[in-house]
Amino acid sequence: MKKRIYITRRLPEEAVEPLREHYDVSMWEQEGESVPRDVLLEEASSAHALWTMLSDTIDREVFECATQLEVVSNLAVGYNNIDLNAAKEHGVIVTNTPDVLTETTADLTFGLMMMTARRLGEAERDLRAGEWKSWLPMGYVGMDLYQAKLGIIGMGRIGEAVARRARGFDMEVLYHNRTRRHESESMYGFTYAELDELLAQSDFVVVLAPLTDETRGMLGAEEFAKMKETSIFINVARGEIIDEQALYEALKSKKIWGAGLDVFTKEPIDLDHPLLTLPNVTTLPHIGSASIRTRLAMMALNRDAIANVLEGKEPKNRLT
Ligand code: DGY
Repeated sequence: MKKRIYITRRLPEEAVEPLREHYDVSMWEQEGESVPRDVLLEEASSAHALWTMLSDTIDREVFECATQLEVVSNLAVGYNNIDLNAAKEHGVIVTNTPDVLTETTADLTFGLMMMTARRLGEAERDLRAGEWKSWLPMGYVGMDLYQAKLGIIGMGRIGEAVARRARGFDMEVLYHNRTRRHESESMYGFTYAELDELLAQSDFVVVLAPLTDETRGMLGAEEFAKMKETSIFINVARGEIIDEQALYEALKSKKIWGAGLDVFTKEPIDLDHPLLTLPNVTTLPHIGSASIRTRLAMMALNRDAIANVLEGKEPKNRLT
């Protein structure tokens, strides 16, 4: 009998098709909807492999009911949605999709910085709504990226790719990270800073750290108060790293100038969320890695990892 692979979202057939000859593959077919919890548990109970999304909670309960499960492959570089300890205890291999999304996510980070600093979303919305009445000398004026100081919190692969782009804008780059990146510091010319120093000096504070017990809630009222009144806060990592209420208050009271957010504590964000009432916030629906080439490359990593584990071979990007 063929081993079973369950995919928690509808994926393009070209990404899945190579698995069909050797495996029994099924997926949650409802376009635009996460798999309901009861369906996930039911499917997991007979699956040998789960191909999961960052929006799925793969916790101990899943591993406990998934008695035949050999591998969980997550379509994301982040894996905070998966209980790795429970996976290890149940002998399940977990993999993710690093590297292939680095440049695409760095592009989006820069795009969001630009969009927020130069008020691009607001300007486009106004034009479409017929609000563009005349050219105004101080209409839609924003902040410059060129020669600004960029502070990156979490200097991993994506942070480094953002810092490389910043050179083209003649920006000075500070970073804060758990471990110093001595080699990259000299190679790319960025400077290590303590968190307080980075917050106090940067024109753009960009969060790119993974969500861990250490980073959860690391940026709140105290941290936003240390930022400059002209500064812009950007989060493309995970919503839970910041205190959203504190960010709202910092923006509302103009303690900081603006924010660009690709990620939220609750996704999708509720439409009555206070952050969405502010004109100085730019929001995107978690699209950091969303280019066609990158998403297909991420899917290829998942597909190969699943096939390798099910064939008893070592997969790439193993987390457990
Ligand atoms: C990931 O893959 O973890 C990122 O959030 C993509 O945007």
